[in-house]
Amino acid sequence: MNLVSQEKSVRALLKFGITQLREARVPSFTLAAELLLLHAFGRDRAWLYAHPEEVASDENAHRFFALIARRAAGEPTQHLTGKQEFWGLEFEVTPDVLIPRPETEHVIEVALDRLAAREIRAGRRQTTTGEGFWIADVGTGSGCIAIALAKELPGAKFYATDISSAALVVARRNAARHGVMDRIDFIESNLLDAFATVTVPESQITNHESPVTSHQSRSFDLIISNPPYVGRREAATLPREVREHEPGVALYGGEEGYELYAALIAEASQNLKPGGILVLELGHNSLPVVRPLLDAAPWTNVGVTDDLAGIPRVLAAEKL
Ligand SMILES: C[S@@+](CC[C@H](N)C(=O)[O-])C[C@H]1O[C@@H](n2cnc3c(N)ncnc32)[C@H](O)[C@@H]1O
Repeated sequence: MNLVSQEKSVRALLKFGITQLREARVPSFTLAAELLLLHAFGRDRAWLYAHPEEVASDENAHRFFALIARRAAGEPTQHLTGKQEFWGLEFEVTPDVLIPRPETEHVIEVALDRLAAREIRAGRRQTTTGEGFWIADVGTGSGCIAIALAKELPGAKFYATDISSAALVVARRNAARHGVMDRIDFIESNLLDAFATVTVPESQITNHESPVTSHQSRSFDLIISNPPYVGRREAATLPREVREHEPGVALYGGEEGYELYAALIAEASQNLKPGGILVLELGHNSLPVVRPLLDAAPWTNVGVTDDLAGIPRVLAAEKL
């Protein structure tokens, strides 16, 4: 700290931050220090590289030291900056939502591929705007999956559920930030339970395939979910920033982790149209338990996609 109080150039501050985070065994410590410096200064990366010798104000330097101390004590970088990029979009994150993970982008890719393949089979153009599609995102958290899909499919309409009302507050803000609030309805619900009971006034039903008429189900084109899938018995093996700072309801699916999939798959079979698509993110140990749940009717065309680390990450299927 002494060295820095004598020499408060941006370069010296960054070096100090990197050293502190490395000594605290923070993963990706260089990137974390850089992101915290940019956040403390309210600047972007181009500025950082262009002005390494600039002398920081006392205010900026102290803000940076405080952030470094909190990161070294275990708070995730994204909680300190309040944001995370996903699918090329910036999402607000708070301790009420899971921080979007890069591997969840595979879930989006698989969903878009499956929808495109369905269009081709139906003799339509591969590139679809999603006009007339109804899509459900179960366990929406920050809203990242529903919002990314809404940007890709400007004609589609969405229901995004979460059991956490606090998460839905953040998801709604993210939808507003990305200009898709008018096409996503955020609903507090245990999985897809809401769809058995929600009634929409006639005036709000825009086409006869609207999924949310009372007790009328089996109407979604796509049901997509990244459910909680970590086992409570694995909690001690999680990194500190995850275990102590991300919401338990977003992490743990039960003692083993894969407990929610059976109900989710059963409810999806009730709420998908014939030809509708189910896309699920998997935990590292979920596949052997979850794959057999799709062996019987009404499921067909089951596929598994690995992530970049070679872990089976996405399970997809189609309803007959
Ligand atoms: C792994 S996080 C995924 C969040 C976000 N979709 C993403 O991919 O980053 C799981 C989400 O499911 C929600 N959740 C947990 N149990 C649920 C349930 N029974 N019904 C609906 N949502 C649930 C959690 O609150 C959390 O937001």
